[in-house]
Order: sequence, then structure tokens, then C-alpha cells
Amino acid sequence: MSRVIPPFEVQAVRNSNARADATYGPELRALLNEAGIAAAWEEISSWPGYAPTPLVRLPGLAAAAGIHDLRYKDEGGRFGLGSFKALGGAYAVGRLLLGEVEARSGVRSTTAELRAGGHRDIAREITVCTATDGNHGRSVAWGAQLFGCKCIIYIPATVSEGRKAAMERFGADVRWIEGNYDDSVRQVADDAERNGWYLVSDTSHPGYTIPPLDVMHGYTVMAGETIRQSMGDAAPTHAFVQGGVGGLAAAVCACFWQSYGSARPRLIVVEPNKAACFYESARVGAPVTVTGDLDTVMGGLASGEVSRVAWEVLSVGADAFLTVPDETTFELMRVLARGVDGDPSIVAGESAIAGLAGLLGALETPALASDLGLGPDSRVLVFGTEGATDPELYQAIIGGPSGAPA
Ligand SMILES: Cc1ncc(COP(=O)(O)O)c(C=O)c1O
Repeated sequence: MSRVIPPFEVQAVRNSNARADATYGPELRALLNEAGIAAAWEEISSWPGYAPTPLVRLPGLAAAAGIHDLRYKDEGGRFGLGSFKALGGAYAVGRLLLGEVEARSGVRSTTAELRAGGHRDIAREITVCTATDGNHGRSVAWGAQLFGCKCIIYIPATVSEGRKAAMERFGADVRWIEGNYDDSVRQVADDAERNGWYLVSDTSHPGYTIPPLDVMHGYTVMAGETIRQSMGDAAPTHAFVQGGVGGLAAAVCACFWQSYGSARPRLIVVEPNKAACFYESARVGAPVTVTGDLDTVMGGLASGEVSRVAWEVLSVGADAFLTVPDETTFELMRVLARGVDGDPSIVAGESAIAGLAGLLGALETPALASDLGLGPDSRVLVFGTEGATDPELYQAIIGGPSGAPA
């Protein structure tokens, strides 16, 4: 391949449990299923401002990388929130409130009614909360404002002022917590229990699955859009998708598996090597916690623990787990901003490019490329999961001379 960024090393684990001909069985259907996918689509596509995000063709970058076709699902414009996460947290907040309205008043309501101020007496008594690196919290805060309840958000110290302010603009009470992302997850769970708040986390653990599954069903809207947008074209052969707690990757996996069946693209999960919980879990065949600062520049992916329901799906559905180093991130953001050989300019945030980095790294590693069946005929889909979610930081990176923010 002709290089678009300097060479770098990827680590990879193949998943021997993933088989193309495996059926999407009842255990998986109990988690993410067609009815849930259809309900999320019906609900989210009815929200004000809904529009499918663009699926952008990048022929210049595809040619430079030596593959047939490359498409980039650009989530930067999603509901004006800047990331695909808008689909998940807000959807889970809506579902939670509708459940509470029904439990407390016996009335089956709709989110349209909540948006119009219906059941305000109940909604305003409810406080939803979550821990976040930024994007999930922004979605929960937006959903709380949209549907009329209160919202408290915990963030680790690594989250920027800009991302904090973005959540406060939706009326959320945003609090910095000592420690890393996983510490803020644990603390908000404890405080929710003590204070009677409703935890709307994107991370599931044994006994806590409903909001995370709602969040993931919300994300399937994005995967479903790519299927509709590619209608009439040959299906992608590979999808590279970044992993934080894994909700996104599992939602894509489940949606593609149920839609494409055995013709589904190979799914490759890509994480920063500083927060590689899926990679490490795949190596031992069971969920493993990665500790430390998790201080990757890809803040949305800075998770040391897998979401259990995501692991259930990905441990049988993902073809491989890759890690990429931080050092490629800023350069790849600049490559996308410039566009390769006339490709359109794309605004991609730090966590948006990991899937693409994984693809480029795999193509640079012949044994891995061959193992993944990647080559000149490949049609690859990557998910650009965020735009400039912190515009000042984005400008600093794009304007910076050599990979470090200016
Ligand atoms: C921009 C972006 N991309 C990808 C992810 C990863 O999603 P998940 O944590 O569901 O794996 C996140 C999570 O915060 C994110 O913010």
C-alpha cells in the first residue's frame, strides 16, 4: 500500500469462536433482537431533527490503502450532539421514563407526550445519572432535557472543560470524580443506589442489563442506516469498529448478523493499546479488567472493563480484536481533514478514527491482512463515531505541526 500515515504496530487476536455460518441464536436474541431494533428505529427516527448521517465514500484513501472500496459513516452531525452516542443514552432515558410513568400512573405514554410536557409531575421527580468520558453523558443529558427529568453526570479528571460544558448546556449537573473512567462508573453506581437516582449506564454487569441494552438498541439505528444506504451495492466484506465498553461494536455486530446472516462482513474490534479490555479478554477467553490510567488520547475508548452484554455478543460474533497506539491518532485526523486524492474533507474526533487506524495497521501487516482476508477486493466500512466534540481541542490538533496539539 502507498502510505497515508507512518507505519505503526497493531496487536491482534483472532477469535476462533466466530464462525460465518453460526446462527444468531436464542441467547443472543434475548439481548439484542429484531423487535428491539425495529422499536429503536421507529422511536429515534421520530425525534425532531432526525436525519441519517452520511455514509461517505473515500476512493482516494481506499486506493492509497490498496483496497477496493472504503466507506466512512460520519456521525459528526448526529442530532447536533457530535457523536453516534446521541442515539443510545437519550433512547434509554426515554424508555426508562415511559416505564416509570406507566408504573406510577398506570398510563402508557409516548416520548412525544413527554416532549410536549405530559406527565411532568412524574418526570421531574426522576433523576437519571451516569458516568461518562463525554459523549454518552451528553446523550443522557440531552435525553433528560428532551423528556423532562433531572440529570447528574460524573466525569473523570481527563474529560476536558469543553466536553463538560457541552453537558451542562443541556441542564445537567456535571461533577468531576477522582480516578479514571472505571472509578467514576463505580462511584456513580454507589451514589445512585444511595440517593435513589436512576443509573443509565452504557456498561452492563451481571444483574444490570436493561439500560445498557436500550443504549445498544439505540446504536443499531446507525448500523441499520448503513445497510439502507448501501442498498443495491455489494455488502461490505469487513467492518472495523472501535471498542470502548463494547456497546457500539456489539450493536453493529448484532444488527449485521441478523440482517446479512452468513454474508455479514467480518467484524474487527479496534481499541487503543492503553485501554485494550476486549483484546486482553479475548486473549484469555473471558472478561478481564485492564487497570491503570487508561490515558489514551482516544478518550471515548478509555475503558478498562468490557460491558458484559457486549462481551456476550462479541465473544462469539467478532472475528478479531486489534489494538492501535495513540501515536497515529492526530495524524489520521489530519489526513481525513485534508482528504486523500480529492476525497471529501472529514471532521473526525480522536475516538472516531480507531477503526480506520486498525484497518490501515492490519493492511501494513501482511500476515494479519491475509488472516483477515483483507486485500485488493475488500470493501470496508468504518465508523467515524464522532466529529469535533471538543471544537477547540480539534482545532489545536488539526492546526498542530507534527502530531502534538499545537
Ligand atoms: C466517539 C466514540 N466512539 C466510540 C466509542 C465506543 O463505544 P462503546 O463504549 O460503546 O464501545 C465511544 C464511547 O464513548 C465514543 O465516544
